[in-house]
Amino acid sequence: MVEESAMENKRADAFKSFTAAQDILSIKGSMENRLSTRIPELDRVLGGGIVNGSLVLLGGVPGIGKSTLLLQVSNNIAAAEGKVLIVSGEESAKQIKMRADRLGRISSNQFILCETDFDYIKDQIEEINPAFLVIDSIQTMFCSDISSAPGSVSQVREFTGRLLRIAKKRGLPTFIVGHVTKGGSIAGPKILEHIVDTVLYFEGDTHRNYRIVRAVKNRFGSTNEIGMFEMTSKGLTEVVNPSALFLAERPTGASGSVVVATMEGKRPLLVELQGLVSKSYLNVPRRLCSGLDFNRFSLVLAVLEKKMGLHLERYDVYVNVTGGIKVVEPAADLGIALVAASSHRDKKVPDDIVAFGEIGLAGEVRFVNQIDKRVVEAAGLGFKKVILPSQDVDINKKELGVELLPVRTVYEALEYLN
Ligand code: TYD
Ligand code: MG
Repeated sequence: MVEESAMENKRADAFKSFTAAQDILSIKGSMENRLSTRIPELDRVLGGGIVNGSLVLLGGVPGIGKSTLLLQVSNNIAAAEGKVLIVSGEESAKQIKMRADRLGRISSNQFILCETDFDYIKDQIEEINPAFLVIDSIQTMFCSDISSAPGSVSQVREFTGRLLRIAKKRGLPTFIVGHVTKGGSIAGPKILEHIVDTVLYFEGDTHRNYRIVRAVKNRFGSTNEIGMFEMTSKGLTEVVNPSALFLAERPTGASGSVVVATMEGKRPLLVELQGLVSKSYLNVPRRLCSGLDFNRFSLVLAVLEKKMGLHLERYDVYVNVTGGIKVVEPAADLGIALVAASSHRDKKVPDDIVAFGEIGLAGEVRFVNQIDKRVVEAAGLGFKKVILPSQDVDINKKELGVELLPVRTVYEALEYLN
């Protein structure tokens, strides 16, 4: 519960100005103007660049690389478009400069303001008149006429609301950084998501080098897009071929491994699933999966026991998606079944096979969407065979050089183990 005083609300209302309704045909400006970040992966997620006057929230756990990414964007925009203002409540100007040094050549036209009070920030925006604004992070900012602490719901909402008015009035594209708690929500104020135009989440494992930027809300584009990056010693670099990255360390000729074609929004992604079925010394054998939906994992194991006669009751079963990525779609079911059976029977899934398909309770392999994109991605990475549900595929098999192995049941799919 957060207390809000009536006084504060009154003051907030005072900021609103009155305007008359407009005839839609009299409104000027048809095509939205977008500012390119000069980072194609990020532009794509935004829907083709940042729309002028829009507010973009970039959420992510601390240390994931939000400030780094925005510093790179700022450097690009400053070099090509004009002045950039970076407002930081987290780092000193010196720290930001050190980081910029690390990232390479620094463009002029970048202004650093280490300030958290709205009034000062507003003044500086008016004085500098930037073409791009970064607020890092919203949790450190405050409006001095509101008594609650920075990071509280009232502060975050009010600060963002005022920023929105400035951004819209000046046509100023603005990025706001928001830290995400362990639970996954932007710390405290989920409320931010409703105010801003676009919400991007920066995901990935801080222990690994790759990062994914995902749009969860976009008034000016699709929410299905993801952008892939890798954190290097010189900042974030784009990953042009994500599937190759995820398959780089794949062991060959081992049982309990299969490559699954999954979809990340509109983009196919090949990931490796690994399974280990080993004799259990516990009364209740272990069932562990990581990167997968536990319910689907349990369901697939139940189907294997009941329909395929696989005796798993005295075995621990582990299934992993390698690379730390999460695969929640049911298309991974067939992969789970293949790696579990492969490890249990100590038979291999041939190295040149990619598999996907949803498994039903009767042991049937069900249709999945965007099947052609998955097959094309598999072919593109040199895979020769694809185990898939028996549904129509709109591709030229000869041209791609792949053999399609449609299956109706899990039983048929497991026939390919050898
Ligand atoms: P940062 O952008 O500060 O994260 P956030 O703003 O989301 O909290 O990223 C910090 C991490 O990135 C830190 O662990 C160091 C690492 N890093 C690199 O690996 N290479 C680099 O070039 C930079 C600048 C940071
Ligand atoms: Mg930061």
